[in-house]
Amino acid sequence: MCGIVGYIGKRSGTKVVLDGLEALEYRGYDSAGIALIDGEKSQVFKEVGRVSGLIKTISKQSDVSAPLVMGHTRWATHGGVTAENAHPQTNNDQTIFVVHNGIIENFSEIRTKLEASGYNFKSQTDTEVIPNLIDFYLKQLDSFEAAFKAALADVRGAYSIVAISVREPNTLYAARLSSPLVIGVGDGEHIVASDPSAIMDHTKKVIYLEDYDVAVVTAEKVQVQNLKDHNRIEPKVELLDFDNEQAVLGDFPNFMLKEIFEAPATIKTATLGRARADTGTVKLGGLETVLRQLKHIERIVIVACGTASYAGLIGEYLIEELAGIPVEVHLASEFKYRDEPFSRSTVLLAISQSGETADTIAAIKKVEDFGVLRLGVVNAVGSTIARMTDAGVYCHAGPERAVASTKAFIAQVTVLALIALHLSDGKHPQFKPLLKELEALPAKAQAVLDSAEDIKKIAEKYANYDSFLYIGRNISFPSALEGALKLKETSYIHAEGCAAGEMKHGTLALIDENFPTFAMATDSPLLEKTYSNIQEIRARGGPVVAIATEGNKAIKELADDVIYIPKCEEELQPILQQVAAQLFAYYIASKLGRNIDRPRNLAKSVTVE
Ligand code: F6R
Repeated sequence: MCGIVGYIGKRSGTKVVLDGLEALEYRGYDSAGIALIDGEKSQVFKEVGRVSGLIKTISKQSDVSAPLVMGHTRWATHGGVTAENAHPQTNNDQTIFVVHNGIIENFSEIRTKLEASGYNFKSQTDTEVIPNLIDFYLKQLDSFEAAFKAALADVRGAYSIVAISVREPNTLYAARLSSPLVIGVGDGEHIVASDPSAIMDHTKKVIYLEDYDVAVVTAEKVQVQNLKDHNRIEPKVELLDFDNEQAVLGDFPNFMLKEIFEAPATIKTATLGRARADTGTVKLGGLETVLRQLKHIERIVIVACGTASYAGLIGEYLIEELAGIPVEVHLASEFKYRDEPFSRSTVLLAISQSGETADTIAAIKKVEDFGVLRLGVVNAVGSTIARMTDAGVYCHAGPERAVASTKAFIAQVTVLALIALHLSDGKHPQFKPLLKELEALPAKAQAVLDSAEDIKKIAEKYANYDSFLYIGRNISFPSALEGALKLKETSYIHAEGCAAGEMKHGTLALIDENFPTFAMATDSPLLEKTYSNIQEIRARGGPVVAIATEGNKAIKELADDVIYIPKCEEELQPILQQVAAQLFAYYIASKLGRNIDRPRNLAKSVTVE
């Protein structure tokens, strides 16, 4: 949420920062801005809308080269989407510039205090207090660094902040608390960013800042101090082991479609070297260091948000069935505020694509002092959650650019199936059949993708309804929840998921000829019960689209439209159902002319509570 890029070095940083902002635009895309400092000269440009608009404005300027540059792409929290509220924000004298990601919770208190000292405010943002607070302390303290730290000591909330000043044209100041920042180390230059995708075209060497770290960055040097223990830290330079190649659109019209079509490769990569049907083994390198602890688990608590939480619910069915370990899934935003009895035999398992979701991070922090094992199922390598958990299994789905999560969900469910199989110790009768199924799954996902044109035709028929119900039973119930989320976030059509057997307890009242249902009706011992639920809907005039297993002729009599997926072990059906449901949501959103990769009001990587 909000993207930050800062550059200091021997060449001009303007292009580096603008390219970086484009790479980070998936984090926030309602407005963007940039500040440049060259000696005593400063320039600020801000535009409402996409980074491309900002680039256009800047391309019309004659002199925009500067060795100290920083920029921001915004997802509004405080104050509307206006140029005044876009970042960089500045102090009254326009000598200090700040970009900020996160929320300053006590901004109104600070603002009142500063107003009493004669400061004026032009924006409605919480961020504007920061440059003014630095300015306030600069009048009392002897250095910008001291004033920056004094300002940080006053603010409450979550932040990653980059600050520059015309009085310090050779230095960039950065700080983080519960919001990511990484520094790319180049040859005579440093690039600070919210995530490595803005950096990796320039260098693979990075320093991750930790909570309470303050970095003083020049072209040649990075100094880090932790404000909690006041120690100067020797920054640890790490190597990024991925690149931006996967984030290139190729022939696809948008990232969502590209990422849906990556499902077969995603399943292959998630299982590669980990699961083998011929030897009957599941080997998860990321869990090797905690194997002994895993033998004594009595309960697993999964914490996650949105799509990742629905993957978690599927994980609950898988782990309970295959490994016999009780699992609870909590929405991370709720978990952190409840009193949950915890013993050391409970394992916390966090699931996150970005590895930066503030709610999920807070949930992990909550158990920090309980002495429990914290595991992660994370996609973004080196992200905060990947680093703060004791062990885990990477999804290896590659960068996911579209805001709506598609391939990451496929990878999360695949990895959770591997974890369930691993924890089962090979004892469950489904162990071998599922290992075999995992090997066959990429080809089956491809078969679903091969029917994209048929799914498109069906989707377009349903594009003009206002509401949709998604139903499923057993492991297909969380799949229904995820299907509904995908439709609403991409098309803005209201959709809700419901356990098929639960409909009669209330939701059925919604059904009429204007309220279609998307039914997960793939082969299962409960299929006949799902048929009965579809009959209940039909009896009330509700149109039905069903996902069914190839060869099922009976469903044609029941549903108005049928999307067939290949025969598959029930435990892994949600993966194939979702490839179909993602395409269904995609084609409806596309027919309605929605902004596919950047749905309104949303952002990827939700780094505020
Ligand atoms: C929906 C979607 C979100 C995320 C959620 C968690 O398509 O993408 O619901 O799943 O914000 O994000 P991560 O997985 O990055 O923690």
